[in-house]
Amino acid sequence: MVVGVAKRMRGLQQSVLGAMTVRCRQLGAVNLAQGLSQVPPPASPLAAGARDFEHLGHSYSQPEGLAVFREAAADKLKRCSGLSVDPATQVVATVGATGALMATLSALLDAGDGVILFEPFYSYYLSSLQVLDLHPEPVRLVGPDFRITEESLRAAVTDRTRAMILCTPNNPTGRRLTAAELAVVAAVADEHDLLVISDEVYEDIYFDAAPHLAAATVGNLGERTVTLSSLGKSFSVPGWRLGYASGPERLVGAIRIAADSLVVCAPTPLQEIGARALGLGDDYYRDLRAMYDRKRRFLAEGFAAAGLSPNEPEGSYYLFVDCSRMGVATGAEAAEVLLEDNLVGTVPGEAFYLGAPERPYVRACFSLPDEVLAEAVDRLASGSLTHG
Ligand SMILES: Cc1ncc(COP(=O)(O)O)c(C=O)c1O
Repeated sequence: MVVGVAKRMRGLQQSVLGAMTVRCRQLGAVNLAQGLSQVPPPASPLAAGARDFEHLGHSYSQPEGLAVFREAAADKLKRCSGLSVDPATQVVATVGATGALMATLSALLDAGDGVILFEPFYSYYLSSLQVLDLHPEPVRLVGPDFRITEESLRAAVTDRTRAMILCTPNNPTGRRLTAAELAVVAAVADEHDLLVISDEVYEDIYFDAAPHLAAATVGNLGERTVTLSSLGKSFSVPGWRLGYASGPERLVGAIRIAADSLVVCAPTPLQEIGARALGLGDDYYRDLRAMYDRKRRFLAEGFAAAGLSPNEPEGSYYLFVDCSRMGVATGAEAAEVLLEDNLVGTVPGEAFYLGAPERPYVRACFSLPDEVLAEAVDRLASGSLTHG
């Protein structure tokens, strides 16, 4: 070999999610694995924006994003999450929430710093930490409740801990953090002066009456919290790679500089069109939630009818299914049986843990057209999952 790769790449591979998508294609399986979001975006405001092609900006925007985008984002944060941020100084447009996370970690932490991850966690958190030479510090949340407790959080803090990453509503468990859990987070973060990164990309997708509870609105968490948002989930346009980070001016100022160094700016024409989507009113979100609620129930019934134990997610668009009744030891085995015998692709629970999960979980995405979900349910019914 002439040129080697960096040592930090050693633990990194193609994500399990991407690998499952490839296998689904090869086998002709229904892919419930990747959160690919194949529901249609709200066509009219986006199409109206795209028709203005000649008038859209096609050059770089300023690194923090177009004013029209930041203003629309701040307005939406206020309406949907009760968060008050100044669009001039406290918002930055990013290349998806992933870009927001990378810019935040790069701007606010140093190599070797410890970052608390609540297991099970969205797998990109771990790879982002690895790419930046940050150190993951897992806190195990135990199902079926997956609740943050004061003892387990306190026990995880070490001398090197500088930050923690929250995700509410959660991928993969669908849980929404309660005010009591966030109060625990606030107390521990205060005591140890920790940065809190709150990934709220599923803020608009939840299934009970209570509105989204943004971490930064609880106690004095707003002083130390960077909130990550994405247009990908709320408007079903993940491929646009458009999101934003918001938080205290001092932190966002540094994140803007890091975002500039990493990628210059978020896509300018999509910021312009995205600003229109951010302006959509309550009816849009009501319909979005009703659609996902229907899909969630349909797929959960399909897994339950096949003898498995899906959770009841409070938000996001995933089921976290306990496959113990298949008689398998791991989520990886369960996912293999579902793929090979039923032609249904799911993500093994292990993808969301550093250690071994206590049960054989798989995650199934329901952000898919009804006919795809119907096909998955038919295939689940055709196997003998709990008796074979
Ligand atoms: C919890 C969570 N955060 C962030 C992302 C990525 O968001 P984006 O596509 O805006 O980078 C995802 C995508 O699945 C996610 O589930």
